[in-house]
Amino acid sequence: MKTVREVESLREVVAGWKAAGAGVGVVPTMGALHAGHTSLIDAARARADRVIATIFVNPKQFNNPEDLDKYPRDEAGDADLLSAAGADLLFAPPPEAVYPEGFATAVSVADLTADLEGTFRPGHFDGVATVVTKLLLMTGADAAYFGEKDWQQLQIVRRLVRDLNIPVEIVGCPILREADGLAMSSRNLRLSMEERAIAPALHRAMEAAAKAIRSGGQVPAALQSAREAVLAAGFRAIEYLELRDAERLTPLDRPERPARLLAAAWLGGVRLIDNVAVSP
Ligand code: PAJ
Repeated sequence: MKTVREVESLREVVAGWKAAGAGVGVVPTMGALHAGHTSLIDAARARADRVIATIFVNPKQFNNPEDLDKYPRDEAGDADLLSAAGADLLFAPPPEAVYPEGFATAVSVADLTADLEGTFRPGHFDGVATVVTKLLLMTGADAAYFGEKDWQQLQIVRRLVRDLNIPVEIVGCPILREADGLAMSSRNLRLSMEERAIAPALHRAMEAAAKAIRSGGQVPAALQSAREAVLAAGFRAIEYLELRDAERLTPLDRPERPARLLAAAWLGGVRLIDNVAVSP
């Protein structure tokens, strides 16, 4: 697997592939990779002839400069994982290749971004939308693979691609979980042993609520018992645990359309997010 850092070199490689008739997939990441990320590479490999992984810790999506500084970086380890997973090319640009001096443009999806994660991370989704637009245009990939782990992000990316007529297919990939149901995340490493044992309670409570709603239970009651179960298990606080329209993310009192239960909660000093499907 080759690594390139300049947009021009990236374009040359992709142009060569496309001239040979290859379909190109891209998996955008911020590095610190785990099996959840490599499952996206697997999904891309299953459908595309050539797979690009990108690693770029995007300063514009961090609302807190300290979080940006603390974000784990291990490009050599990540490159080994990507290579073993079968990626063909790593695009790992320096910040100035993405945001050169004088960069002044932003992509902002007005709908979908204001609440849920947007409430607690102001400006975050403008940063995500801007960098994803750039990565899609820089790579020129035919398809881009995103995890359902970040459900709201996935819906925002689908919308910006539609709104801006970017010629790329967005493929959502299922959440990879630990054996006990905890969604894989680099943040899980920050949990103490005791917290790690509590963590799967979030997904367990969400599955129980989803099951109750699917079998005709009242939504507010199901959400309330899920919130109580999460707090009783030892979570410190719940930011949100709600039923939303799966695509438009509007609040739902009944799962009359494809719906999604979405949650963010604090376990000690670690903020965990998760979501599960609730179909009518
Ligand atoms: P990052 O947090 O590195 O995640 C990269 C991709 O991996 C995202 O699409 C995310 O949803 C997916 N992912 C993470 N954990 C997963 C899991 N357990 N199962 C399945 N997929 C999982 O999300 C970002 O980076 C950035 O916002 C980015 C889109 C790269 C823009 O900067």
